[in-house]
Amino acid sequence: MAGEISSVPLLSSAGQPQRIMNRILTLALTKGRILKETLPLLDRAGIRPCENISESRKLVFPTNRDDLQIVVLRGTDVPTYVRLGAADIGVVGKDVLLEHGAEGLYEPLDLGIARCRLMTAGPSGWQHTGARVRVATKFVNIARRHFAAQGVNVDLIKLYGAMELAPTMQLADLIVDIVDTGNTLRANGMQPLEEIAAISSRLVVNKAAMRSRHNAIADIVERIGAAVGERA
Ligand code: PRP
Repeated sequence: MAGEISSVPLLSSAGQPQRIMNRILTLALTKGRILKETLPLLDRAGIRPCENISESRKLVFPTNRDDLQIVVLRGTDVPTYVRLGAADIGVVGKDVLLEHGAEGLYEPLDLGIARCRLMTAGPSGWQHTGARVRVATKFVNIARRHFAAQGVNVDLIKLYGAMELAPTMQLADLIVDIVDTGNTLRANGMQPLEEIAAISSRLVVNKAAMRSRHNAIADIVERIGAAVGERA
C-alpha cells in the first residue's frame, strides 16, 4: 500500500501537530504478557514485525505490511498515544481503560488475552468493622468508584507496585489489585475478597483515524477479529 502514502501534510481540525493523514498506520503494544499474547494473534491476521520485539531495545518496528508499524509503550501510555492520534490503534488492558478513561477511543474488540481479575483483597480472616477502611492501590479511580457504590468510607493510598505488602506493613487494611493465579496473595497471607471487574486486553482505535483511514483500519480490525474468533 506504499502508493497510499501522501506527501501533503495536513493540519488536523483538533489543532494537533501537523500530520500526514495518509501516513503509515501505527499500532501501539506493550512489552510483557500483552506483547507475548498479541503477537500470535497478529501473525494469524497476517501482521508480522520484521524483528524480534522482545529482544530489542528499539521502540519502533516495521512490519511485513508497508502501511503498518508497531510501537512499544508502557501500558498506561497506550490510551494517551491513541487518543491524541500519535498511534492509530492500540492494545491495552481493560484495567488501564477503566482507571484512566477511554475518552476519544473506540474499543471494537475484546482480544480475550492477558485475562485476569481486578479484585479487592485483604489479610486472611479480615472483616470490615465499620470503621474507615484504608485501601492501597494503583487503581485509585476504580477503587474510589467501587467503594462509593457500596457506601463504604475509604482512605485511598496510591502505590505503584507490591500492593500485597501494604497490609502486612500496616500501611493499609485492604488492597485493590490485579489477581491472576492468586499466588501473590497467598504468598503474602492475603485472600481475594470481591471481584470488581474481569480484565482482558482490548483493541482501541483513535476515533478521528477511524473516520479518515476507515478502510485501512477496518481491514486490520476485521483481520484481528477473525484471528480472535479462530482461537476461540
Ligand atoms: C500483578 C499484580 C499482582 C500479581 C498477581 O503484578 O499486581 O502483584 O501480578 O498475579 P498472581 O495472582 O498470578 O500472583 P505484576 O507482576 O504484573 O507487577 P506490577 O506490580 O508491576 O503490576
